[in-house]
Amino acid sequence: MGAQMTLAGRAASATKGFVEVKDFALFYDTLDGAVEAVTGVSIHVDPGEFVSIIGPSGCGKSTLLNAVAGFLKPTGGTVTVDGEAVDGPSADRGMVFQQYSLFPWKTVRGNVEFGLKMKGKDRGSREPAARTLLGLAGLLQFENQYPERLSGGMKQRVGIVRALATGPKVLLLDEPFGALDAQTRVIMQQILTNMWQRLKISVLFVTHDIDEAIFLSDRVYCMTARPGTIKAEIMVPLERPRQPAMMMSSEFLALRRGLMSLIREESLKAMGGEISDGALEGLSINLHGQSLADVI
Ligand SMILES: Nc1ncnc2c1ncn2[C@@H]1O[C@H](COP(=O)(O)OP(=O)(O)O)[C@@H](O)[C@H]1O
Ligand SMILES: [Mg+2]
Repeated sequence: MGAQMTLAGRAASATKGFVEVKDFALFYDTLDGAVEAVTGVSIHVDPGEFVSIIGPSGCGKSTLLNAVAGFLKPTGGTVTVDGEAVDGPSADRGMVFQQYSLFPWKTVRGNVEFGLKMKGKDRGSREPAARTLLGLAGLLQFENQYPERLSGGMKQRVGIVRALATGPKVLLLDEPFGALDAQTRVIMQQILTNMWQRLKISVLFVTHDIDEAIFLSDRVYCMTARPGTIKAEIMVPLERPRQPAMMMSSEFLALRRGLMSLIREESLKAMGGEISDGALEGLSINLHGQSLADVI
């Protein structure tokens, strides 16, 4: 079993970390009036489930995630974890941001030990626990290094380990691999799913990358352009553990095609209607069949 566990089997083995967002709305107060960022959003993450939110830039993905983290209060609706209303940040919900947010004055292990301290772990047991977590992420040999000496991928791995060190029931990630190159990204995705399966926590992952959403998730919510609402919910029935080669499978490509057309519609809307599919076709017609290199 283990790696070959079914979706139902895995969900059943985790008992905590049920996220429920109901009729959620969030408006930002600005000098020009209220900005309606997200409205009428209802989503959930079952215990142990890996769920992604995908949508065009500015559709409210970070807003929604920050409300689950407890950094923002809903204008309307409710956010609960295991039936309890979210009322501010908590160690129950670990957060990883796109920009690396490590303490530069602490070593790799020091950063992770900080997470353990937040969890209330006593001084003596922090070091072995930090070393175990770092080992899971392949970072043990860097435990005494300072963040400035690490590559982007390594910094983000430390960020994930630190967030996991507080023992969260839910891990929230906001485009955590957005700044990484494609190769590093795939490796990070595998490390993340590996840790998620071992720790049996729930994950809510924000991305604008279609392949990443499919590769990682059990389920994907696709958002509309602002004000963000849920446009579609897509199940990803690919077996686990997932391998990069699966991205070439017909199953994966079919999911990719479906999500691409959903996102494309919304991305065009998010560009304010300046660019329509028709206008884009017009651009290629203007070349009269010549390649761009012939024309310019
Ligand atoms: N503090 C803020 N004040 C006013 N508007 C904001 C603020 N933060 C975000 N917004 C607006 O809310 C919308 C959603 O933002 P965000 O959640 O960051 O989107 P995403 O993460 O999907 O790119 C955007 O139009 C953005 O400009
Ligand atoms: Mg964002």
